[in-house]
Amino acid sequence: MDCRYSSTLEALEQLRAESISAGGEQKINNQHGKGKLSARERIDLLLDDGTFEEFDVLKKGRGVVTGEQKTFPGDGVITGHGTIDGREVFVFSQDFTVVGGSLGEAHAQKICKIMDLALSVGAPIIGLNDSGGARIQEGVDSLAAYGEIFHRNVRASGVVPQISCIMGPCAGGAVYSPAITDFVFMVQESSYMFVTGPNVVKTVTHQDITSEALGGAEVHAKKSGVTHFTVPNDVLCLREIRRLISYLPSNNKQRAPLLDLSDPIDRIDPALDYLIPENPNQTYDMNVLIYSILDGAEFMEVQSQFARNIICGLGRLGGQTIGLVANQPAVLAGVLDNDASMKAGRFVRFCDAFNIPLITLVDVPGFMPGPDQEHDGIIRHGAKLLYAFTEATVPRISVIVRKAYGGAYLVMNSKHIHCDVNYAWPTAEIAVMGLKGATEVIHRKEIQAAEDPEAMLQAKMDHYRRTTVNPFLAAQRGYLDDVIFPRDTRHRLIRTLQMLEGKEKILPARKHGNIPL
Ligand code: HXC
Repeated sequence: MDCRYSSTLEALEQLRAESISAGGEQKINNQHGKGKLSARERIDLLLDDGTFEEFDVLKKGRGVVTGEQKTFPGDGVITGHGTIDGREVFVFSQDFTVVGGSLGEAHAQKICKIMDLALSVGAPIIGLNDSGGARIQEGVDSLAAYGEIFHRNVRASGVVPQISCIMGPCAGGAVYSPAITDFVFMVQESSYMFVTGPNVVKTVTHQDITSEALGGAEVHAKKSGVTHFTVPNDVLCLREIRRLISYLPSNNKQRAPLLDLSDPIDRIDPALDYLIPENPNQTYDMNVLIYSILDGAEFMEVQSQFARNIICGLGRLGGQTIGLVANQPAVLAGVLDNDASMKAGRFVRFCDAFNIPLITLVDVPGFMPGPDQEHDGIIRHGAKLLYAFTEATVPRISVIVRKAYGGAYLVMNSKHIHCDVNYAWPTAEIAVMGLKGATEVIHRKEIQAAEDPEAMLQAKMDHYRRTTVNPFLAAQRGYLDDVIFPRDTRHRLIRTLQMLEGKEKILPARKHGNIPL
């Protein structure tokens, strides 16, 4: 045997081992002590067994600019590619045990390398973030390095799915890479995101606040809407990322993979005929309809705790991934407000970018009235949802199940903004405004002059409902393609999706539109 060759192999083994255990056992124990997995354990759980191929395991930084000159093999991040359910993905996993996972020049170069490859081969990018942020010793080099990542996030946006998972600290400008990506996961209690931390908040505003209260998973799930999914621990988080990937195409040129859940396409649900309460002011849970129609009653809801008056998420119909947007009458009567418009607008644009057909289930009493909403920009924000639906060229199908009033009717994927196929249940109420408000406006004098104003109001409302607030007028005009039996909704949607399979829409050339951001 060639001795020189043998020693080279040994050298390689030695170098790899150094990189793999760069942080040392104690720091991995610390990580476990905080309920966190190590960067490598996370990759193992994320990817199909034995499929991870690592790059740059031997890469080192130039060393810190000031202080003791020290380099770290792997430079605090593990990068490479592997498969999820047999499909290629690229992944980086920041290693908090090596200089706090802080991002220096070489660390960022490793991330940029896999981002470039992901873009050129058309595969999703998954970032597992656990980092103290910009590596302080590397100064402006580490800021420049962040800029390179941001640049690639933007270039990859709408080309390959980008998923960020926050599994530790994520502070300062570092938050902007996840913010640009399509979906953000946060692990409860071990992750936080903020632009300025509690110390700076204290100095500037004199407020005492913990990291958790300032930027923990709960806050971003319920208040800011920064996170799309919150999960109790690392293991469940990685499982949920795998589930999300199963709904998505690998890039914007492909369709999402078909998955047959053995749910008959012509399955009817007679209970849906009785879902809508007789009293139009009574609420019901839109989830009953959603879970009834989707394949295998499987639904991956996005931002489930934010703007709960609108429901967005991914499911399947006849094996095909669909993006679902539904008003939720059980929360704020399903009204559209600022947060709901932004949440749904972004989701619609994601689906459109990645060839995912859109299904809309409509029960919307209008836009939220009041100075708070007006002053916070409901005109701008509502316009985002209008813009998003209108620009979407994927197959679009809408079902009006109850209320569809005024501008909100138009915005929620109506025929008038070129939705492909529009259905309504017989319980649909399509009108300029709600029954009572409309009757009071057009019959005010008669009601005031009546001996019994209440009875007159009721009589006028009944008349208005019979003649105007129903789906039949819109069906006569062709604004609805059919009024369907609720029990048949699943079957009708699947057949319509099959019909729309070959939909193509050629748009005029332009650099990009100007969505009201
Ligand atoms: C260099 C860092 C570091 C950083 C942590 N470390 N953050 N080294 N640059 N940004 C090192 C620590 O010195 C320590 O090294 C090890 O990582 C673990 O950190 P600990 O403090 O012991 O861990 P913990 O108590 O869990 O606290 C974690 C932490 C804290 C909350 C993240 O380390 C921290 O506050 N770090 C600074 C965070 C920060 O301000 N970053 C800059 C944000 S601004 P040893 O050798 O002791 O183990 C930013 C701008 C981005 O990122 C701009 C983009 C445009």
